[in-house]
Amino acid sequence: MTSLAALRPRLPSPVQEIEDDRFARHGVRLLLKRDDLIHPELIGNKWRKLAPNLTAAAGRTVVTFGGAYSNHLRATAAAGRLLGLSTIGVVRGQELADRPLNPSLTRCAADGMRLHFVDRSTYRRTAEPETLTAVLRAADAEGAYVVPEGGSNALAVRGCHALGEELHGYADVVALACGTGGTLAGLAAGLAPDQCALGIPVLRGGFLTAGIRTLQERAFGGPRGTWRLDERFHFGGYARTAPELDAFAADFEDRHGLPVERLYVAKLLYGLVALAAEGAFARGTAVAAVVTGRPFP
Ligand SMILES: Cc1ncc(COP(=O)(O)O)c(C=O)c1O
Repeated sequence: MTSLAALRPRLPSPVQEIEDDRFARHGVRLLLKRDDLIHPELIGNKWRKLAPNLTAAAGRTVVTFGGAYSNHLRATAAAGRLLGLSTIGVVRGQELADRPLNPSLTRCAADGMRLHFVDRSTYRRTAEPETLTAVLRAADAEGAYVVPEGGSNALAVRGCHALGEELHGYADVVALACGTGGTLAGLAAGLAPDQCALGIPVLRGGFLTAGIRTLQERAFGGPRGTWRLDERFHFGGYARTAPELDAFAADFEDRHGLPVERLYVAKLLYGLVALAAEGAFARGTAVAAVVTGRPFP
């Protein structure tokens, strides 16, 4: 098995200040924490969350879970190819088994991931031990190292602690888009006491605060750091978008030459521009936006 160090991650990832009048006019500085540059295939929070799990897998087959367009599934499949590990992806949606693979799943399969499709109601219950055992048996994955959906277990959350540490002295507020909240849970723990994290959930539902508390409890034994969520910028939920959001992301790319990942990063940046316009950041505040991904394909 190839070691993770041999993949030469770019860590700490670069921090880049950008000029944007939508922030400057409110006396706010905007920095980008370029986690999208850590590794060409294990991008952003995928490196931070997967690396400790791949070490813990110690050469065993890695099985994980995701939807048909999951960034996490693709990253796990790429890690398998790069490190010489077998991977199995449990995919939400039995109906997809009979259709041609979409580009994201095609990439997973090309990277050697074995795909196992399950119906949506079973998929929802894979957090329950009996259902998980049955799914692993059906996928011929008993004995495999299990990484949960989105990759957010305690090891992954601890892996994101370094993201917070890397930002000491750079910003007052560190903002990022949240799915499971695992990245935020670790990042907030790693920040300095005078810094705070701001999460922009891309899923609808308002359940994330409790989820992040649970993740911090499991990873660190209790609450850590200062953080809050702003639940207004999900645009209807996961993978939902709107012409206004697409136009915003395309314009941001034109202004700053940053490829804007649409499912998470676009919602984060849109939320930050809206918050700056509302006067939510005091003059003199430095805000760092974590670029947790890159567009696919
Ligand atoms: C690009 C990108 N940004 C942010 C996130 C959210 O991460 P988390 O699930 O840790 O909140 C994800 C999902 O893993 C992602 O793919």
